Amino acid sequence: MQSPRRFFIRTYGCQMNVHDTQKVANLLHHHGYAAAAGLEDADLLIVNTCSIREKAEHRLYSDLGVLRDWKADRPGRAIGVAGCVAQQEGDQILRRFQQVDFVFGTHNLRLVPSMAEAAAAGQRTLRIDANASLERFDFPDRHPAFAAGTPARAFVTIMEGCDMFCSFCVVPHTRGREISRPAAAIVAEVESLATRGVREITLLGQTVNAYGRHDLRRRPGAGADTVGFAALLRRLAAVSGIERIRYTSPHPIFFDEDLVRAHGELAELCPHVHLPVQSGSDAVLMRMRRRHGADAYRALAERLRRARPDLAITSDLIVGFPGESDADFEATLQLVRDVGFVDSFSFKYSPRPHTPAAQFEDAVPAPVAQERLEALQALQRAQTLAYHRSRVGTRTEVLLEGASRQGAGQQAGRDPYHRVVNLSAAAEVMPPPGALVSVCVVEATPHSLIGTLDLAKTADSARQPLKNGAGSADERIRSVVAGG
Ligand code: 5AD
Ligand code: SF4
Repeated sequence: MQSPRRFFIRTYGCQMNVHDTQKVANLLHHHGYAAAAGLEDADLLIVNTCSIREKAEHRLYSDLGVLRDWKADRPGRAIGVAGCVAQQEGDQILRRFQQVDFVFGTHNLRLVPSMAEAAAAGQRTLRIDANASLERFDFPDRHPAFAAGTPARAFVTIMEGCDMFCSFCVVPHTRGREISRPAAAIVAEVESLATRGVREITLLGQTVNAYGRHDLRRRPGAGADTVGFAALLRRLAAVSGIERIRYTSPHPIFFDEDLVRAHGELAELCPHVHLPVQSGSDAVLMRMRRRHGADAYRALAERLRRARPDLAITSDLIVGFPGESDADFEATLQLVRDVGFVDSFSFKYSPRPHTPAAQFEDAVPAPVAQERLEALQALQRAQTLAYHRSRVGTRTEVLLEGASRQGAGQQAGRDPYHRVVNLSAAAEVMPPPGALVSVCVVEATPHSLIGTLDLAKTADSARQPLKNGAGSADERIRSVVAGG
């Protein structure tokens, strides 16, 4: 019998891309492929690309040079290019790179098995057409051979695309128009994941909390399946076996009262929100077309903390947006302090094709943008460390994911606040990945917490009160702000 063809997928970019890779891998398993251990072992390679910033896009071009030799090394090998660069550049990639067999966009994942077969027959394929049909969300259940990167955790797509058109962002052009998946299909997928041992889900969408808004507008109150985001969260929280729910990434303007309240009411909803703000200057936010000002963001953070006092807020920030003055940048630093971000991702502005900001004048000189990035990251590092230190002496609950990057037999996982926690314990008492364990935080580092396993408390300790005298987490976060 011929051995199965083996695939390898290289992924760049956001969690949506990581999840798209998982969908394609699962689909290939269902079509008789096996996962390769590495590139050497593979017959089919797919590069799932990102174009959010120029640097990410260039990775594809440097990869493809090396891959020409990889393909030539063994007959029968094929290369596919997926993701946002594929969607953006389309036939250019096929034209420029003869080693590429197929190029497919973000709406065409389901076509991978047929494109791979066509490649085996010597045909090259381009599929970057937009597909507004809900069918594009339909994927088979997890194949027995599909290995999740993190046991007990899964991503679930609830909406795709973005209609916000922030002036710097390429995503509305690569991911297309907003489309929400029917609630019943989402609940069915989550139920199926729960029966396979999944305890934590992360709901995905480019503007995840805009879920259902177009459907609700079109047919208000119609159809049992037309629900808003908070109502969806409530349904998913009721699925037996699901203990943690996260979502990413929300947009500040789509937090209605129901969603804020859900943070106070749903025990399954983790006390962490990744809430991109991009800038703390009203003038910059206006030119970014974010549709809210800095004070509205501060007010939202307050509302969320009133509902859930220990909420950890993290964010995305851009420095060096065209026209950003020293005072604008100061306003960003001030917002970071005021809100007390526990962590953030920060980027230098990168002009992207098809976006209005790419035509804006007043570019910030590269050295100035670099300086601002470093200042912002230094502030954030100090805040993150102060937050981590405030957690020392408290107990938390960790969903174990596997061996820690720190090595030395340590395991790592995340707590409800999405902080990485490294744990050491004797191998014979360490529960396997996928277990939810109670942990005493004993040390803080800039990137993670260090904890010891508290086996006696390991049954359902997630919502233990904070240690006596530590004050509420709200106060702790504020003290981080003061200390930052
Ligand atoms: N330049 C720099 N950063 C960007 N982001 C999106 N577009 C750009 C760009 N053109 C950042 C935003 C977004 C995150 C995913 O990437 O902060 O929230
Ligand atoms: Fe990009 Fe703005 Fe849409 Fe986020 S909301 S994906 S930043 S256009």
